[in-house]
Amino acid sequence: MSNDIIDIINNRATCRSYMEKEIPEEIMNQLLDAACKSPSSGGFQTYSIIKVTKKEKKEQLVKLCRNQKFIEKAPVSLIFCIDFRRVKRINEIEPAPCIETDTFMNFWMGLIDAAISAQTLCLAAEAFGLKTVYIGNIINMIDEAAKLLNIPEYVCPAVMVTIGYPTKTPTPPLRYDKSVLIHEEEYRDIDIDMLMKAYKEKDGKQKIKATDKLVERIYNTAKAYHGVEHAEKCKQYILDKGIISTYQYWFGCYYLEEEGFLSMQGYKEFMKRQGFKWLE
Ligand SMILES: Cc1cc2nc3c(=O)[nH]c(=O)nc-3n(C[C@H](O)[C@H](O)[C@H](O)COP(=O)(O)O)c2cc1C
Repeated sequence: MSNDIIDIINNRATCRSYMEKEIPEEIMNQLLDAACKSPSSGGFQTYSIIKVTKKEKKEQLVKLCRNQKFIEKAPVSLIFCIDFRRVKRINEIEPAPCIETDTFMNFWMGLIDAAISAQTLCLAAEAFGLKTVYIGNIINMIDEAAKLLNIPEYVCPAVMVTIGYPTKTPTPPLRYDKSVLIHEEEYRDIDIDMLMKAYKEKDGKQKIKATDKLVERIYNTAKAYHGVEHAEKCKQYILDKGIISTYQYWFGCYYLEEEGFLSMQGYKEFMKRQGFKWLE
């Protein structure tokens, strides 16, 4: 365990296996204090954090988040929400010219505020030997999540962070080197061969067998989005290699349009009902 910020950043890795061990209240309070000190657009802090520790609620979260069981084992899950409700309530007393939930820009800022605050908390957690995992799937069944957490108008879940003591220290995964991600002064594409080499080094080790069932799923997803020609191209590429890559699996087998995940239709409808009018 180290308090050096660079060590903390370098050693951070997502954890998906937790001890059933409580986080002492004074530590949890320090983490939440850290999250609330994050920078935010205009200093408005347009986010809220809902802390869930009750067993029954955690069980529900597992169900809402694609059955990711470790959520239940970990002592705490924190749902970071975009929150314009406080601004709205203050504006009811002290009228301001702009209706904050009407603009895409405000939504964008709220989302960034929520994300920064989540990451501040994740890094602070590492200083106490705690580990975290982001759960993007909290928005998969958004209506049910909102009901479970009693989320009112002008508030919208953005991401969840599950936190606890790891059963074993997770190893940081391979990541792109900064030569792939950083651009000097202006954006410049790196050579495609270099990009493919970097991609294969990072993600190429995961080889999923191209079973008929998975190939059919990928075919159907590709067809739904880009038509038969594209679906045939995907299928042929996979059959030639005999394996499915991480990207092909992720975008063709895991998140499926029949669950509404890719078009996010359910999320858009929810946002409109929550009063985020820019979507109309
Ligand atoms: C917005 C977001 C959503 C994520 N959702 C999930 C999730 O639902 N389940 C999960 O196990 N990991 C999730 N992750 C964790 C990523 O898979 C993980 O960060 C990534 O594989 C890189 O690994 P690292 O965090 O160890 O660097 C999410 C991460 C982010 C940033």
